[in-house]
Amino acid sequence: EKGGYPHFMLKEIYEQPQAIRDTFRGRMRENKGMIKMAGVDDHIDKFINAKRLVILACGTSWHAGLVAEYIIEELVRVPVEVEYASEFRYRNPVIDKDDVVIAISQSGETADTMAAMKLAKEKGAFVFGVCNVVGSSISREAHAGAYTHAGPEIGVASTKAFTTQITVLTLLGLKVAKAKGRISTSDLHMHLEELRLIPEKVEEALKSNDHVKEIAEVYKNASNCLYLGRGFNFPVALEGALKLKEISYIHAEGYPAAEMKHGPIALIDEHMPVIVIATRRGHYDKVVSNIQEIKSRKGKIIAIVTQGDVTVKELADHVIEVPEVMDSMSPLLTTIPLQLLSYHIAVMLGKNVDQPRNLAKSVTVE
Ligand code: M6R
Repeated sequence: EKGGYPHFMLKEIYEQPQAIRDTFRGRMRENKGMIKMAGVDDHIDKFINAKRLVILACGTSWHAGLVAEYIIEELVRVPVEVEYASEFRYRNPVIDKDDVVIAISQSGETADTMAAMKLAKEKGAFVFGVCNVVGSSISREAHAGAYTHAGPEIGVASTKAFTTQITVLTLLGLKVAKAKGRISTSDLHMHLEELRLIPEKVEEALKSNDHVKEIAEVYKNASNCLYLGRGFNFPVALEGALKLKEISYIHAEGYPAAEMKHGPIALIDEHMPVIVIATRRGHYDKVVSNIQEIKSRKGKIIAIVTQGDVTVKELADHVIEVPEVMDSMSPLLTTIPLQLLSYHIAVMLGKNVDQPRNLAKSVTVE
């Protein structure tokens, strides 16, 4: 059942090229510059007229929502807010019929997300579900939706759900941008072509596995870890930290790289591993100066870089390469080595990778 892999998590990490392909299969007509998503097509007026989008989710799905905020704001030019479902539901949120609410949930059974979306519905919003489990409660409660088609995710640590959620939300953003005339046909073609190549690039990123394992060996006994990223990759830093926490029980924090100087930089010394996402197209120079700040405080730097990088390679203690890609799609690649890193550390520490202590696959109680 684990298809020859020692754990579901590793199997699911390796399934990502196929899972992403399954998510866009049948939806993309890249040669025609068209995207088919019945749940969006049937309610396109709601999306066109929305004054803002509000994304509700928990955990990793919330991180996918944050990536989507960056992508959709850029493409559609409408404000996007991303809320923890558990906070949203208890604060009498301002929501009305001109809002489109997107609830993201792998399981489709998360109690807080379900309650938050019901509340948004009561207030008159149009609610769109992005779920993986077909027929799940959230997918049934939504007015419309799009499935991620990632296949069953068994490991408690979410991996392929995250990348397929980002894929679906990218398609949604492109589709709405097109419907609103915010993107030219040639730009749309370009995005779709980039997306079509993502599965191969994820395969390529997975080839870093042995190297990531060597790095895991060096840092497995760390008691803290900092993850930094900017722009589209800021949420990936949060997600990398969550992965490490939940399966290896090492304390980790994700931060936008520029926030470091507002506090966390005080933590940095020679015992602190800092994982920095430093891809070429994503505020590269700014991230390089953040790396210099860490280095001058003797922090250990593990950088995720674009293939062929030279500058960061000279500064960092370790670099992990991912293929070149358009900035907005880089989270689909940069997240891969971070998943592998937490996986290997957890295995080396003898932890129960697929069923970490105190956690359940779907959190059906609040
Ligand atoms: O099924 P959901 O996507 O609604 O689950 C949300 C979170 O409980 C989930 O992502 C959790 O944070 C994972 N264990 C993270 O790996």
